[in-house]
Amino acid sequence: MTNALSRRDLMIRLSAVAACALVPPEIAQAAGQLAVGAALGVDWGLAFADRDGDLAPAPMRLLSGACPEGLSGALYRNGPGKFRRPGGSATHWFDGDGLVRAFRVAGGKASLSARFVDTAKRRADTAAGAVVTPGFGTAARPGAKVTNNDDTNAANISMLALRGEKGANGKGGGALWALWEAGSPIGVDPADLSTVGVKTLRPDLAHMPFLAHPRVEPDGEIWSLGVLGDKALVWRLGPDGALISAEVIELPCASYVHDFTATERHLILVLQPLLQEKAALPYIDGFVWKPTQSTRILVLDKADLGDRRIYELPAMFAFHFGDAWADPDGTIHFDACVSDDPTFATRNARQVLNGDWTPLPPPRLALITLTPDRRARIERTDTVAEFPRTDPRHAGWPRAFTVHATKDGGSPLFHGLATHNWKTGASDAFDFGGAHLVEEAVFVPRPGGGGELDGWLLAPSVNLAAKATELHVFDATRVAAGPLASWRAEVALPVSLHGTWVQG
Ligand SMILES: [Fe+2]
Repeated sequence: MTNALSRRDLMIRLSAVAACALVPPEIAQAAGQLAVGAALGVDWGLAFADRDGDLAPAPMRLLSGACPEGLSGALYRNGPGKFRRPGGSATHWFDGDGLVRAFRVAGGKASLSARFVDTAKRRADTAAGAVVTPGFGTAARPGAKVTNNDDTNAANISMLALRGEKGANGKGGGALWALWEAGSPIGVDPADLSTVGVKTLRPDLAHMPFLAHPRVEPDGEIWSLGVLGDKALVWRLGPDGALISAEVIELPCASYVHDFTATERHLILVLQPLLQEKAALPYIDGFVWKPTQSTRILVLDKADLGDRRIYELPAMFAFHFGDAWADPDGTIHFDACVSDDPTFATRNARQVLNGDWTPLPPPRLALITLTPDRRARIERTDTVAEFPRTDPRHAGWPRAFTVHATKDGGSPLFHGLATHNWKTGASDAFDFGGAHLVEEAVFVPRPGGGGELDGWLLAPSVNLAAKATELHVFDATRVAAGPLASWRAEVALPVSLHGTWVQG
């Protein structure tokens, strides 16, 4: 590491966090029965229900259309899948055990399998018969054993597909990592979704945080962050996951960071005024929302992390950002799904486990521009948007389109997907209606194609009326025309968060 912050300093900070976990916890409220979404006539609680075990590979039934020629591979997705245990349950959606799903498409057919990541947290909670391990929004219970970050690692946010690495123990072809944000990546075998183990990128950096939203350059190089208060570890990895460098940087403030973005040349960290005032568990309880403070945007040169600029915007909250790009004059652009405050994270994502939902303004799509004269501006649209995705072949390059989930109907999450054209302002959207909760759509390039949006959008949904998980394929240039193909599984899995496509 090139910074003065030593591993010892980091470990002291982590020890402080761990110590909090061992303080006798409050008795968490018992998880209630999932309520029926009366207004919609469907039970949206199905999206937050427990999955009690793995799901063996099973064919999905073609409901309509036909699989497009050339679409072959696997969509690996991750998200919380188990929340409730007899002796006490998770009290926040983000604290469910990571459940990895594989939607495989081959020969015009689709199948679905799912397997829990075998984490130390899941093993401890299973043995205790209660969710004793603290997390993002769930307090510790007696019996919690936290000696490092990975003891609390739920491995439940996203998946990263590496190029060329053989999985540990010789398992798997290329490697897959299940990602959380405050602990290590955890290897998962792409063939059977079995857990390979905690990935230590360098022995002296064991258990350090690694965000669930790494930025992958078109050539496969990977950037990620590990945020610890007002310091961040900047991870730089090769396409196969091998560590190139890990450098500690100082941040202007101790902000909650779930995602960041990058151009070809720069890393861009959006430091919103949800500020950490104490090391606490559950983690989010250490943060305070300060709407009178600005959002600071830190721009770092990838080639020299000491070369930095700071921009300011009014207070805002966003979980997710699109890939950034730069104009020839150095002006940087990136999109964000912006809310006025973090109430979803601090309140509503707790409520959903009890079947409750307090109406909340949905996040909306915005474009942030940073000019070379150090001015920042934000252009907010009226478009409801979350889970922004772009063409991975063009990450960090100029682009026009953002793929996103859309249409908040007053219930949790989304029931449509769309592309937004930043050059024209046009939106191309499809709405499944209130009986579906649509998950993040992933762009899949058409083999041999090259143009932006030359390919498909793949998005699962939880069909609340049919009580089943579905997979939908859209022509990315004609979203409003509806799915080219839809398949349905025999079961409904809880809604997932993020995924990645691996071409077959
Ligand atoms: Fe995320």
